[in-house]
Amino acid sequence: MSILSGKKVLLGITAGIAAYKTASLVRLFIKSGSEVKVVMTPAAKDFITPLTLSTLSKHPVYSSFTNEDDDNAVWNNHVDLGLWADLFVIAPATANTLSKMSNGASDNLLLATYLSAKCPVYFAPAMDLDMYKHPSTLESFKKLNEFGNIMIPATSGELASGLVGEGRMAEPEDIVSFIEKDILGKLPLRGKTVLITAGPTYEAIDPVRFIGNHSSGKMGFEIAKAAANMGAEVILVTGPTHQNVSNSLISIKPVVSAQNMYDEVHKYFKASDIGILSAAVADFKPKEVASQKIKKKSDTLTLELEKTKDILASLGEIKKQQYLVGFALETNNELENAKGKLKRKNLNLIVLNSLNDKGAGFKTDTNKVTFIDDKENVSEFQLKSKSEVASDLLNKIISEIDA
Ligand code: CTP
Repeated sequence: MSILSGKKVLLGITAGIAAYKTASLVRLFIKSGSEVKVVMTPAAKDFITPLTLSTLSKHPVYSSFTNEDDDNAVWNNHVDLGLWADLFVIAPATANTLSKMSNGASDNLLLATYLSAKCPVYFAPAMDLDMYKHPSTLESFKKLNEFGNIMIPATSGELASGLVGEGRMAEPEDIVSFIEKDILGKLPLRGKTVLITAGPTYEAIDPVRFIGNHSSGKMGFEIAKAAANMGAEVILVTGPTHQNVSNSLISIKPVVSAQNMYDEVHKYFKASDIGILSAAVADFKPKEVASQKIKKKSDTLTLELEKTKDILASLGEIKKQQYLVGFALETNNELENAKGKLKRKNLNLIVLNSLNDKGAGFKTDTNKVTFIDDKENVSEFQLKSKSEVASDLLNKIISEIDA
């Protein structure tokens, strides 16, 4: 899946001959899973028709401050358009438009949108070789770079003038892969390995029965997805659940019992940077596992249980560089119990869920959590979706490991 999937891409087209290639560019963005809107300068319409672009993008194409086709002129809101976008890609970007962008001119809708946009702006210059080298163009590149805009350099080749040299707009495929690489390279968890546990564990009583719990695994899977979206390599060790996820950055290790989970987690912890143990691991397991199905011969049945290994505590004992996070599900004396666990298990952070909070805990899509870190900072959150809780948690971890 492309990192561009689900992103809102605003494509800005200016009046260069390379504008004819933007039909392919729109298609490639859409193929990557992004939503595309197009804004173009009035002169760009001489090179490619708005009808082609609106058909491909499935959105109206904007090129002036008002909608000219309407008797009651409607204002095309450049502020809304700029704020809508997750990224603004100006391709082809002519010397004229780049010069205006670098000087704050706003005499067309594309330029006004550029000034209003808060998202990352990419520009792919396209011009003749002497224009590309001209000091005033180089000055535009420099200024735009200082503004934080990202240049997708032109390539060398035959130009519309017939001359051969630098100034050809990068090919649409290269523009898309340049942006994908740029976004990936800037993700906050790029290069980090995150080990996550999720779901319940099943402790066998006999070949057909087990002791388990109602954990759905949702919280752990949401953390895995959020970590992958932030660029991490994720190892997700999960007990039996109905959750699934397909992401090339997430490697799923299915386990059944607490002992399986312990063994699997220890295989990967040493090479991990962050450990987040959200699984609801059984605290006890049957001391003996019957080799045959237990028959109901008597009126009562007594099972002797013994403690499982505490996976989280075992990682706390051996951790070095790793940032270690545990979960605590409490019913009373919540803060004190959670703080006690944080210390006892040598954690960097504990996520407290209180069963007294409506919408928190097992099986729900929401959770209400409190973070307590090893400096005893306590941050309490509102009831949120588990995916929002996952992002809050990872943002907290990132702020701690970057500090
Ligand atoms: N945990 C674990 N291995 C276990 C038990 C728990 O890794 N065998 C982890 C959970 O994934 C979670 C945290 O420890 O991150 C929860 O601990 P919890 O079971 O609530 O606390 P305990 O220390 O077992 O204390 P108590 O049961 O008394 O509340």
